[in-house]
Amino acid sequence: MKTPLLTTLCLTATASAITFTLPPKVGTNGLAYAPLDPSPIGISFEFFAFPSYFTNVTATQQCLSNWKSLTGTWPPIRIGGTTQDRAQYDAKTSAYVVYSVADPKDAPATLTFGPKFMTLAGQYEGRVVVGLNRGKNNIDNTIAAAKVAVAEVGKSLLAVELGNEPEYWVKDKQPITSGVNWTPATDAASQNNWNIRVGSAVGKTNIIQAGNWNDAPPKWGAAQLIATENATARQYVRHYAHHNYPGGTIQSLMTHSNVAKNIRTFDADVAAARAIGKEYVLGETNSVSGGGAAGVSPTFGAALWTMDYALRATYSNISRTYFHHGTVGNCQYCFWGRYSMGAPYYGAYAAVALMAGASHLTALDTGSTNYAAYATFDSKGVPLRVLLYNSGYYAGSGTRTSQSFTLTGLGSSLSSIRAKRLTAASATSRVDQGSPPSFGGQQFENGSCAMSGTEMFESTSVVGGQTTFSVKATEALLVYLQ
Ligand SMILES: *[C@@H]1O[C@H](CO)[C@@H](O)[C@H](O)[C@H]1NC(C)=O
Ligand SMILES: *[C@@H]1O[C@H](CO)[C@@H](O)[C@H](O)[C@H]1NC(C)=O
Ligand SMILES: *[C@@H]1O[C@H](CO)[C@@H](O)[C@H](O)[C@H]1NC(C)=O
Ligand SMILES: *[C@@H]1O[C@H](CO)[C@@H](O)[C@H](O)[C@H]1NC(C)=O
Repeated sequence: MKTPLLTTLCLTATASAITFTLPPKVGTNGLAYAPLDPSPIGISFEFFAFPSYFTNVTATQQCLSNWKSLTGTWPPIRIGGTTQDRAQYDAKTSAYVVYSVADPKDAPATLTFGPKFMTLAGQYEGRVVVGLNRGKNNIDNTIAAAKVAVAEVGKSLLAVELGNEPEYWVKDKQPITSGVNWTPATDAASQNNWNIRVGSAVGKTNIIQAGNWNDAPPKWGAAQLIATENATARQYVRHYAHHNYPGGTIQSLMTHSNVAKNIRTFDADVAAARAIGKEYVLGETNSVSGGGAAGVSPTFGAALWTMDYALRATYSNISRTYFHHGTVGNCQYCFWGRYSMGAPYYGAYAAVALMAGASHLTALDTGSTNYAAYATFDSKGVPLRVLLYNSGYYAGSGTRTSQSFTLTGLGSSLSSIRAKRLTAASATSRVDQGSPPSFGGQQFENGSCAMSGTEMFESTSVVGGQTTFSVKATEALLVYLQ
């Protein structure tokens, strides 16, 4: 009887210890290192709702500036979505947007926008991507809007999109598909033609964010589009973008191996874009499509998904990830609203805190287990921070397990190390149901997004360049190395 018992004990001990070795410098230890954008996590605003977010939702400015306080750079924003292909430019209106809806929870079926829409976009101090209409097949109207975007958004204008999720336009009865066998090939020919015509009309190359499909590649994807482009069309493209809403349960969403697998869907497209010297971005994404799922998107589990997903995307050389924000007051996955914060903001905040001021990021794990470890490096190539994530699912009942993460390679001069914990009562915790998460003991106030509470670091001693942290199921820890 002794042997089986010993075996059990050994297996338990082995399973409970997970070791990650920190590389001494960027480029070493045979790992892949992604160069970092100054602010890789952005926000996407649904086209018709963008003016409301910036004029009538108090938290917007503060939520964005909290990240600027960490990185020194305003997060990039993208304005677009389904309603960009329902919108037409009206040079004569003095309103930002004109539409009517039966219920404030609805998105408009049709709308117009005026020059002030672009003026407002230009007042934002970060980089801006503006999504314009292709579906209505009115290129003169889109060129007029693009010219105003170039003039009013000015040097903050990163790119314009020409159409959102064109693979759904047959179903949406968009005029551009009328009488056309609308396929990836006809859409690609249309994108190339519009890129040339709009790019030359505004007199700018490197101005289009191309692609913008939601259906998975390779059928609708950057590699197939790039293969159809000649040098004339290509010179107008600045980035290739895809949309992604993984969906599922809280548990399947937040499970680290699922996150890593989902992100690998884009590997070939990222490689195709990089091979021609262009960036690849997730132009619109969030947990569950259609504004989110009430039982999934506002939870702490979704917050941890947000964190892990943004970091895994960045690791895969996806330059920026824009989390979508839809109708104000009808948006389960939104990071903030008029009255309440959303738990996912906390996950995004922790990911921003890991990458702030860093030049490179690597993943120390292979993406095949419940446990993730990411490391960032400063401009000298020296390790800056490490984030440890235990994606084990804890729904609030029974024992909450804990995982030991041993970190080696910390350097012999370090005697203690500081860390901030991202935690909540359980994966199902929601701010609006009285259970907000905390990060380093701090929270974000409902309605204002102001940070509250006292910043708390945990301190752990380091012996011989090594230490062990304990991270509970459904929790993450940000370790500061400098
Ligand atoms: C701001 O939002 C409130 C609440 O939905 C609404 O009643 C009001 O009309 C909005 N104001 C503007 C200027 O959009
Ligand atoms: C490049 O492709 C476009 C269509 O996408 C075509 O109109 C144009 O003539 C081509 N230019 C050259 C130089 O082949
Ligand atoms: C990301 O790009 C860098 C080069 O800039 C490369 O060294 C690295 O291997 C790429 N990462 C992945 C996961 O392919
Ligand atoms: C936000 O509102 C919820 C629900 O009313 C409340 O429990 C929470 O304490 C409030 N404050 C923060 C910082 O989340």
